[in-house]
This record gives sequence, structure tokens and C-alpha cells, in this order.
Amino acid sequence: MKEPKPKSTLVVGDKLELETLRLARGGKAVGRTSDGQVVFVVGAAPGEAVRAIVTAVSSRFIEAKMTEVVTPSVTRVSAPCPVVDECGGCPWQHVAYDEQVRQKDAILRDTMKRGRAFDDGEMTKFADFVASELHFHYRSRVTLQARPRGGTYDLGYHKRESHTFVPISDCLIADKTLVPFAREHVAKQVSKNLKVRDRFQVAVNDAGVLSIGGAFTQVNRAQNAILQKLVSDHVVAHAMEKRQILHWHLLDLYSGNGNLMFPVIEALRRARPQGVVEATGVEMAEASVAEASKNPRAQQCSFNIESVDSWLARQKAGAVSLLTKKGLPLDEILILDPPRDGVGQTVMPLLARRKPSLIVYVSCDPATLARDLVRFREATEKQKTKYEVVEARGLDMFPQTDHIEAFVVLRRKNI
Ligand SMILES: C[S@@+](CC[C@H](N)C(=O)[O-])C[C@H]1O[C@@H](n2cnc3c(N)ncnc32)[C@H](O)[C@@H]1O
Repeated sequence: MKEPKPKSTLVVGDKLELETLRLARGGKAVGRTSDGQVVFVVGAAPGEAVRAIVTAVSSRFIEAKMTEVVTPSVTRVSAPCPVVDECGGCPWQHVAYDEQVRQKDAILRDTMKRGRAFDDGEMTKFADFVASELHFHYRSRVTLQARPRGGTYDLGYHKRESHTFVPISDCLIADKTLVPFAREHVAKQVSKNLKVRDRFQVAVNDAGVLSIGGAFTQVNRAQNAILQKLVSDHVVAHAMEKRQILHWHLLDLYSGNGNLMFPVIEALRRARPQGVVEATGVEMAEASVAEASKNPRAQQCSFNIESVDSWLARQKAGAVSLLTKKGLPLDEILILDPPRDGVGQTVMPLLARRKPSLIVYVSCDPATLARDLVRFREATEKQKTKYEVVEARGLDMFPQTDHIEAFVVLRRKNI
């Protein structure tokens, strides 16, 4: 029988000294007290001795805020942002970039293993984490807060996990044009006596055009181009293997503005010019679907403004026919790119029934990715189908933060 863990004797406000081991999801460093209790420390780097003050105690762990570095980690650097602690949006700015990438890779692998999404064999399918060339000023879209002050407005962010307004003069991870553009926008609104929203989004597109508002777009354009290429390469490699197939249905769930769908279609058409590619996108945000439908590359693509859960439930039960209406062999390729919450509970079982031949699951939260892959495996067991992992890989879309982007490619066996 497992020994019950000793109840913490520490209380909020207590001081402690400890060594941190690694970084964790949530942006904090992890260490243990001398009697083995897990402590998450805000502001510490991995592998350093720190003094900290306890901020919360639960039955499973303690939370603390670093007050002093006793022996700094070799990976500690000085954080360049003047409001890094007040804002909390970049909790890893004090850690050297290479180390941030190493820690993200470790968290991703650990989450897949502990979450039982991958067995030991599947863990060997991890490819190298793709670091971002830009470490700062990479974000092409930010959501700012505006608060009235002295006839104009201060711009800022909400402090992480709170509603406290933190004024900023610049943001070191935003594209350099965004904050000045937001300031200009506010000045114009004020001069015309128009309302300034207390929260608004500013974005810059690939052509350098700035805008206020708008729907979801991937924030790191250079890393997004790499993601598009990696996903397309996997789809093409799969299509090149099965020479007898000449008709593909690309199902893009959580398709946004077609960011992944269009490059994949193009790559597939280039690689197998004699084939036919049809695509279906499913996306809840009307503005994103409007943008996708306007795209000149949208021929033979249909878009549905609907939740993935309800769209899938409306489709006919069972596997997608493996033949086209003309009796030719058909292959369904699935791209999934849900928000951080992952997919709804009914989605993986419904996908298992469709039996796509290739699945590329792009995720921005390893925990929900692991949970969904387990649900998928359980559902495929019921369908008596098996999928193998072709590749898993992390990609840094969000330097200086603890956010992790990753994708997993699964291929149906014996098809
Ligand atoms: C991570 S984004 C990916 C978008 C797109 N694949 C891309 O690369 O830009 C997730 C998208 O899912 C959409 N979304 C969120 N929940 C949804 C749901 N239940 N059904 C359909 N779309 C949803 C959001 O509007 C957002 O566009």
C-alpha cells in the first residue's frame, strides 16, 4: 500500500530555501522541500538555489514566489522587459532561449509519456523541437487593454491569471509596429470623440498591413510557415506512398482561415497533379470562414460555420466510403487544430468511426493533446482499427512564454 503523503506543515507567508530542478507547464520552476513536497516557484530558473515565500498550499503541492537567488542557474539571463514581473505574460524571459526550448521539449515528451498517450516505442518517434529564429518581437497579433487617463488612454495587458491592468510602453514579444499602431488608433478615436474599446486586438498580416480586430491567426508568422511546410510534407509523403489513390478528401477541423488547409492542398496537387483533391473545413468563427472562402485557392473546398462536435455528429455513421461516386479509390486525410481545450468529448470517437488514413493533430496544449490521443486510441480499439505514430514534434511559436505548440502524425495501419 502507498504511504500517505505527509501533510504540509508550511503555510502561506512562510519562507523557504530550495533548489529548482526544471520548468513546468504554467511557467513556474519546480523543486522539492527537504521533506519531499513539490514546490512551484514563480520567477526561478531551472537548476538554481533560491529563497522563496509560500503563496499557496494545497494537498498536492506548494506555490511560492522567489524572493532571492542564492546560487544562480547557468541558464539565468537578465529579463529585458521592464514590466516582466507585473505582467506575467513572459514567465521565462529570465531563462536563456536555448534552455527554454530544451525545457519545452522535455515537458512535451513527459506529458505524452505520463498521460499514457505514447508507449516507449512511440516515444522514439519524437523529432527535434523546432526553435524560433526570432526570440523577441515575433507576435503578429496581440490583444491590448485600454484604460482612460488624463484625456487619453493607457495601453497595457491584464496581469496573467488576474484582471489587474498593467500599463506598458512597449511589448517585447509583439511585432514592433503593433503597439505604435494601437496608440495611433486610440489617438484617432479620441480626436474624433469615438469610443475606445477597453480591450481590442491589433494585428499585422504577411503583407505588413495593420488592422484592428479580426479573427484567429497564428501569431508567429515564421514558425507558422515552418508548421505549414511540415504538415504539407507529411501529407505529401503519405500520398506518394499510395500510388493507387488518386482522390483525396482533406478534412480540416478547426480550420480557421484555411491556414493549414491551403498549403496542404497546394502541395498535394503539386506532388500528384493527376489526382483530385477536395477539402472540407469546419470552423465556428464566421469571420475566419469568410476569409477562407474568399481565398483564391478555395476551389473544390467547402466550409462549414459550425462547431466540430455538431458537424461530426450530423455526418453519416461509419467509415467514409473508400470509393468515390465514380468507383475510384478515395483516401481521407484529417487535420485537427483545436484551441487549447482540445477537442470535445464526442469528437475522437466520431473520428475513429470515419477511419481516416492519415491524421495530423496540431495542438497548443500538450495536456489536452495527450488526453485526446488516449481517447482516440480507446475509440479505435472499439472499431478494431490501429494507428501508428509517424512523427511527433514540438515547435516554438511562443518564445519567452511557457506555451507549447506540437503536432502528432498518425497513420492507419494495414490500409
Ligand atoms: C488553434 S486555432 C486553429 C485555426 C487554423 N487551423 C489555423 O492554423 O490558423 C483553433 C480554431 O478553432 C476554432 N474553434 C474553437 N472551438 C471550435 C469548435 N468547437 N468547433 C469549430 N471551431 C472551433 C477557433 O475559432 C479557431 O479558429
